[in-house]
Amino acid sequence: MSTSGSSAGVGGETPRELHEFVCDLALRAGELQLSRYDRPGEIREKAPKDIVTEVDLLCEDLMVSRIQEHYPEDAILSEERGGEIAETGRTWLLDPVDGTANFARANPLFCACVSVLEDGEVVHAAVAAPRFGDLYHASRGGGAFRDFDGGRSEPLEVGDAESLEYAFVGADLSFTGVTGTTGGGGGIGRIFDAAWQLRALGSAGIRGAWVAAGYLDVSIGTRNTAWDYAPTALLVSEAGGLATDLSGEPWTLDSDGLISANPLLHAEILQILKKDS
Ligand code: IPD
Ligand code: CA
Ligand code: CA
Repeated sequence: MSTSGSSAGVGGETPRELHEFVCDLALRAGELQLSRYDRPGEIREKAPKDIVTEVDLLCEDLMVSRIQEHYPEDAILSEERGGEIAETGRTWLLDPVDGTANFARANPLFCACVSVLEDGEVVHAAVAAPRFGDLYHASRGGGAFRDFDGGRSEPLEVGDAESLEYAFVGADLSFTGVTGTTGGGGGIGRIFDAAWQLRALGSAGIRGAWVAAGYLDVSIGTRNTAWDYAPTALLVSEAGGLATDLSGEPWTLDSDGLISANPLLHAEILQILKKDS
């Protein structure tokens, strides 16, 4: 595990200590998910095509209580129980189970996502994908890494595809529509047309981590759920890529959507999306 700097943070801890806590938190939630694999418990429909399981709530309780115990001054925004982003100081963004629809049917594509914001900027992030034994993590200026079960760690680097013709594009089709009727309009459909292959994983966290690792070349999200996209924004930028909103502005907590890719593909995608404006 590698993080930049060693000066003390807002709570007196070093950036390395904070980063280790972020990684540990994601790993603990992932362990809980694994312990309940194939046993999601009660499943409730929050909205059409949006469910929450008992395990989502248990993971959230675990994460929130550990943060409150160690960093009682910090703000927390978590998917199921809500919360607020502090204008100044530190905020934790939590997605206790990302890929809940997968988890609910024991599909292995699920993860736990933790991001830390300082003054509104994502400075640490971790994505634990327990069925794969992978922990993806990054800190601002400190690079992006994957730790494997057993302790091995490797730096992440985005792929080098130079055009969409050679690219794997990740997006979740049930939310964007194949012809792109939401978010990026018809441009999303044109990106799919231009790409070599599409991947719909059902987990925004894994999709972003896989762009950072080079398994996918592009991740497209058309919503504004910060807990889903903050880890991608940091992991991909620390792995040499770009993460912006759908108009090419740097991704922020208020962005409606996210495009992340290596710089060449990112430019090609923005050109395609501009044809809508
Ligand atoms: C969802 C997944 C899905 C994405 C949705 C997210 P959840 O998160 O990441 O892939 O398309 O936008 O809401 O509900 O499983 O945490
Ligand atoms: Ca999510
Ligand atoms: Ca979730």
